[in-house]
Amino acid sequence: MALLTVKGLTKSFESTQAVNSIGFTIHEGRCVALLGPNGAGKTTAIRMLTGLIAPTSGDIEFHGIGPGADRRSLIGFLPQVPAFYNWMTGREFLIYAGRLCGLSAKEAQTRSSELLERVGIASAAKRRIAGYSGGMKQRLGLAQALIHRPKLLILDEPVSALDPIGRREVMELLRSLKLETTVLFSTHVLHDAEELCDDVLIMRAGRIAVGGSIQDIRSEHRQPILSLEIEQDEHSRKWLQNWLKTPPAYVKTYSALSGGVRLVVDDVNAARRNLLAELVESDVRMTKLEIGHTTLEDLFMKAVTE
Ligand SMILES: Nc1ncnc2c1ncn2[C@@H]1O[C@H](COP(=O)(O)OP(=O)(O)O)[C@@H](O)[C@H]1O
Ligand SMILES: [Mg+2]
Repeated sequence: MALLTVKGLTKSFESTQAVNSIGFTIHEGRCVALLGPNGAGKTTAIRMLTGLIAPTSGDIEFHGIGPGADRRSLIGFLPQVPAFYNWMTGREFLIYAGRLCGLSAKEAQTRSSELLERVGIASAAKRRIAGYSGGMKQRLGLAQALIHRPKLLILDEPVSALDPIGRREVMELLRSLKLETTVLFSTHVLHDAEELCDDVLIMRAGRIAVGGSIQDIRSEHRQPILSLEIEQDEHSRKWLQNWLKTPPAYVKTYSALSGGVRLVVDDVNAARRNLLAELVESDVRMTKLEIGHTTLEDLFMKAVTE
């Protein structure tokens, strides 16, 4: 079931069009990655979804609430750079956040205890936040975002600023949270998206370059690849250099490998036949010819650079 539909969402700052007419639907229970390099418009898109800034134009519709109704009660949000009162304890901070969301004092206390357990920092609940590690602060931030039982959890780069241990802690927590709630999180790291998400929206320069379920995107954009490696004798190296100056028509794109080349092709059988014939003809010493497929990484690089 659709939880949120976005149409033609646009945000212009004076001279920059940060988000340029994006549209997508988030379905209930899905984990969606908003993926793109720095400056792509992820934070701006998220700030519009959360209601922190007003769109220049476009629609954001949460299903199940009337147009114009306050959507903040549906959303739990962890910003890219969360701010905490470092002099508070983790528990005090959560109770404070709960009260701000309109929970009664008693509810705020009960819910804080539950969430401190849930995110795995109950043993540090009575310590000041100033002494927390990056991963602990981020987990406290997640508890804060969940305090009012939102339907949609929106997280802006939740693991980008963490060291590898903190990153692992938070990824594990997200893996379990996504079973309970719909999640939208932004990241500039493809690997994070692949590890956690069902759906991905790849943004580039304010637009969505590619969107859909990771599985569909993988299979739709899959292209065959030939990886060729040759011996590093003078003759073979020169041949490859020359060959790449005017590659044959069956090569769509290529990239250098150490000691060879990786060719993206249309028709793998024709490409293999032709390439082998050329290698024999020119007496090139091949050491390896491998057939594979483009990865999501190839697609991501293509989507964000072309
Ligand atoms: N408040 C602002 N005023 C002017 N330009 C902004 C503002 N916020 C973001 N931008 C610009 O909008 C573009 C997208 O930024 P942002 O949404 O932060 O991207 P991301 O989160 O993907 O790194 C960038 O070029 C950025 O400089
Ligand atoms: Mg950002």
